[in-house]
Amino acid sequence: MIDRSWFRIALVCGVAAGIGFFAGCSSDDGGGDQSGPFAGGFLGLANVEQNVTQCGECHPSQQSFWGDTGHAHAFATLENIGREGIEQSCAPCHNISDLGNELMDSSVGFVAEGGNARLRNVQCENCHGPGADHLAEPTDKPIAPIDVDFDVGCGECHQDAHHPFVEEWSESAHAGSLEAAGGRVVTDPNCAYCHVAQSFIEFVKSDGVNRITTSEPAPITCVACHDPHGNGNEKQLREIDGEEIVCTFCHNSGGSEIGDTPHHPQADVLLARAGFFFDGVTNPGPSTHGDLENNPDLCAGCHVVTVPFMREGDVEIPAQVGHTFLPIPVIDEETGERNYDNCVDCHANPSSVFESWEARAEILFEELEAALEAVPEGDRESEAYQGALFNFELLESDASQGVHNPRLAETLLESSLAALEGL
Ligand code: HEC
Ligand code: HEC
Ligand code: HEC
Ligand code: HEC
Ligand code: HEC
Ligand code: HEC
Ligand code: HEC
Ligand code: HEC
Ligand code: HEC
Repeated sequence: MIDRSWFRIALVCGVAAGIGFFAGCSSDDGGGDQSGPFAGGFLGLANVEQNVTQCGECHPSQQSFWGDTGHAHAFATLENIGREGIEQSCAPCHNISDLGNELMDSSVGFVAEGGNARLRNVQCENCHGPGADHLAEPTDKPIAPIDVDFDVGCGECHQDAHHPFVEEWSESAHAGSLEAAGGRVVTDPNCAYCHVAQSFIEFVKSDGVNRITTSEPAPITCVACHDPHGNGNEKQLREIDGEEIVCTFCHNSGGSEIGDTPHHPQADVLLARAGFFFDGVTNPGPSTHGDLENNPDLCAGCHVVTVPFMREGDVEIPAQVGHTFLPIPVIDEETGERNYDNCVDCHANPSSVFESWEARAEILFEELEAALEAVPEGDRESEAYQGALFNFELLESDASQGVHNPRLAETLLESSLAALEGL
């Protein structure tokens, strides 16, 4: 079986050499040790110098994007600070190991093979598992886990006080996305593509054609937002045609208009793409918050708040990595103190800006709600009522108290109140 697999590589390399693509196929690969597969069935790098994986010889596009990620340089990160040795506790998360895949036996990989250079870096096989069987029989596919917890997938490395991604994500609403609407979001394909990771990935990859359900649904896990080998984004954020950032794909109301009940319209409010404008009222457009020039990361610019790991004497203060996705997270439950780190670049005193805005917005919301309730049944088909109702529901379901787009919120709330006065 193994012989056949190496023959196959030779075949692929032959063709590749013909088109001059696979640098990794030369016989002198700079790696020294030609042996393999390694314990557990790991293949590792085909060319150490060029950092080309054996998987990459047949999957060139994944190889090429992976090569640009931090994973492809995780060994060098340790080398640069003199911590590359196998005796260090660092090696398993920065090189091929049983972490990230379904293996539970730690006596495999970089450390077990005495630091073999072919097993450097977080490679395809960290996530996909050992590739020897697949090489022998390509239809035996090494599928990487989409689910995530402390023992499986990305979470197996992206955890602990230095990088508590899985800890924070587990607390975020995204981890509970399968429970919404009593679980209907899992069985109804028209909901699943935003609530189930596999359905979302399939929908995006098929350019919005395939709406699927699956028997082992995962909530909105790491790979919903990150694509380990799909694009050239710095932080591996999944790129979707026509979307400013991965968040805007799900957090929008699908072009809802007067007469509809808008759901989760955050992108539409931020970018001023929704709202009912009464005669003579103009759309103020996006505020600085939704302006790609001033706030290029849009949602992430405010909703991913990070604080580095710190040590004070013997006390470790865990890092915050922003994966609860709360823009101004509460940092002290007792006093209610909040972290405004992502606002201070633009607001000298963000807490007072936020609190006074919140108080003003609350009054406007309450006035409009009361005015809507006061409209007699007979007038509820009117444009004034329907337009005002739409604007109210739009901003309510946006759930930012209008902060996403303060001028738009003000305009919609005030013009709706004025329109209802005419009834
Ligand atoms: C010798 C060539 C070759 C090598 C090396 C190779 N693959 Fe594959 N791989 C294939 C082929 C061919 C298929 C398609 C098989 C099929 O669809 O029946 C495939 C399919 C896959 C799939 C499924 C793709 C899908 O869309 O369903 C994954 C995942 C995969 N390979 C990962 C890997 C990983 C990880 C490695 C390295 C451990 C690797 N491959 C090495 C040839 C190769
Ligand atoms: C074997 C451990 C391991 C696994 C499994 C793993 N990572 Fe990583 N990841 C790392 C390490 C180590 C780094 C830091 C690399 C460096 O900069 O040296 C990193 C860096 C990153 C970065 C930031 C650097 C960049 O590429 O720009 C992202 C994003 C990331 N990982 C996402 C993921 C996702 C998503 C998964 C699961 C699909 C995953 N990781 C699985 C160890 C792992
Ligand atoms: C539990 C898995 C794990 C272990 C163990 C681990 N790392 Fe990492 N390391 C990671 C991940 C994941 C990242 C990427 C974090 C991110 O992008 O926020 C990373 C990133 C880094 C970075 C880049 C940091 C930066 O901000 O650019 C350095 C340096 C580093 N690790 C050094 C070490 C050293 C030294 C050790 C051993 C003392 C070690 N790591 C042990 C998982 C681990
Ligand atoms: C950090 C984890 C991680 C690494 C590293 C990684 N993959 Fe994947 N891969 C995944 C996950 C998770 C999926 C399924 C989700 C998806 O398709 O986006 C996947 C999907 C795939 C697929 C299916 C088709 C596709 O592109 O979606 C192929 C083929 C594949 N990977 C090959 C590779 C190869 C080859 C490498 C190394 C060059 C590699 N992967 C590195 C996690 C990883
Ligand atoms: C376009 C993407 C998208 C689709 C399609 C979608 N949802 Fe959602 N859903 C979201 C987002 C985003 C949120 C979070 C919104 C927020 O909190 O403002 C959400 C939140 C919810 C919530 C509130 C969660 C809670 O428990 O607090 C329910 C209930 C819900 N969705 C049900 C459904 C149902 C039922 C369907 C199918 C008929 C559906 N969704 C289709 C994106 C979507
Ligand atoms: C809802 C979308 C979403 C989910 C789910 C998600 N991420 Fe992220 N992740 C982001 C965004 C957005 C950023 C920040 C990008 C930026 O800084 O512009 C990010 C950044 C990162 C980084 C880079 C941090 C740095 O600055 O070095 C790592 C590592 C990472 N995520 C890992 C993970 C892991 C592991 C999981 C699953 C436990 C996960 N992410 C789940 C959206 C997501
Ligand atoms: C695949 C679709 C999807 C993507 C991509 C996505 N979200 Fe979500 N988001 C949801 C769903 C669904 C929920 C509601 C989950 C629940 O409560 O049932 C949600 C909930 C939230 C919540 C909590 C809302 C609440 O009512 O508590 C915030 C905040 C949030 N998302 C921000 C973001 C940000 C920021 C990004 C981009 C970094 C993002 N989301 C990307 C689907 C998505
Ligand atoms: C200017 C900073 C900023 C930007 C940019 C931003 N948000 Fe927000 N967002 C906030 C603030 C502030 C709140 C209100 C938080 C609160 O009341 O605790 C909020 C609230 C939310 C909520 C409701 C959270 C809850 O607990 O109910 C969701 C969901 C959300 N934003 C998603 C997004 C998405 C998706 C984007 C990008 C389309 C985005 N936000 C862009 C600052 C921002
Ligand atoms: C990129 C710069 C930038 C960032 C980041 C930013 N803001 Fe703003 N914000 C502004 C500007 C500028 C205005 C004034 C409206 C305008 O002209 O766009 C504003 C307006 C506001 C208002 C309305 C104030 C009023 O009374 O009209 C609130 C509330 C607010 N921001 C809260 C926040 C919060 C909370 C954060 C952090 C989560 C934040 N902003 C992050 C630039 C920013």
